[in-house]
Amino acid sequence: MNILFIGDIVGKPGRNIALSLLPALKSKYSINYTIANGENSAGGYGITPDIARALLDMGVDLITTGNHIWEHKEIIPYMSGSNAVIRPMNISPSAPGKGYAVIKKTGVHALGVINLIGRVFMPPAQCPFHAAQDTISRITQEEHDLKHILIDFHAEATSEKQALGWFLDGKITTLIGTHTHVQTSDEIILPQGTAYITDAGMTGVVDGVLGMDKEQIISRFTTSVQRHADVAKGKEELQGVVITTEDSGRSLSIIRIKEHL
Ligand SMILES: [Fe+2]
Ligand SMILES: [Fe+2]
Repeated sequence: MNILFIGDIVGKPGRNIALSLLPALKSKYSINYTIANGENSAGGYGITPDIARALLDMGVDLITTGNHIWEHKEIIPYMSGSNAVIRPMNISPSAPGKGYAVIKKTGVHALGVINLIGRVFMPPAQCPFHAAQDTISRITQEEHDLKHILIDFHAEATSEKQALGWFLDGKITTLIGTHTHVQTSDEIILPQGTAYITDAGMTGVVDGVLGMDKEQIISRFTTSVQRHADVAKGKEELQGVVITTEDSGRSLSIIRIKEHL
């Protein structure tokens, strides 16, 4: 089975390039499931119900998120009525929405998706290592035949991501890092069959800083005035990974995607 994971979609340029490239990518790699991180899809900060629906309409099966999930309050009631947008599992147990979901299609294995957030240089959260163990056991109790599990680990520190990858090797199909918006070149199949990459990258304008307007971000650093920046304009790119798995849920390959028009 083939899974496409799309790195953090940033604003309208990110949505546009995903819309333009998704049909050809899905056909080229015979993709069965498409997961996208959508935490920056609304103007660079958060996601709205309309944008979630637009991503689903373009062929994304499930949207993971991260620290920017609560930016637009309208997403909260949407998340209680739909499993298509999930938020990090390891935040407050009272947080709205869900931290995992199982997606199913006919003729192909089900895919469990868990969203976790890091604790190093990130807002307060519970231990992602214990949360991963607990959620894997919960999801496999709920879905007895579930062999394929993807984790989006939304985290800043490369060490925290690599450590969780090794910790979960053989227990999940793939661990994909997000949040830094910078694609790393360390994709690997770990010894027990878990596909791993420290960061899938981002989908949006690469002529900027993490998809945002470079002059405004430079100004944040030079003036210390911390205001939301606008989404950058310029060359758009879709970044992510394609994972190929076997029936057992082990991964066979992981390849980086970096495509533009
Ligand atoms: Fe992001
Ligand atoms: Fe983030």
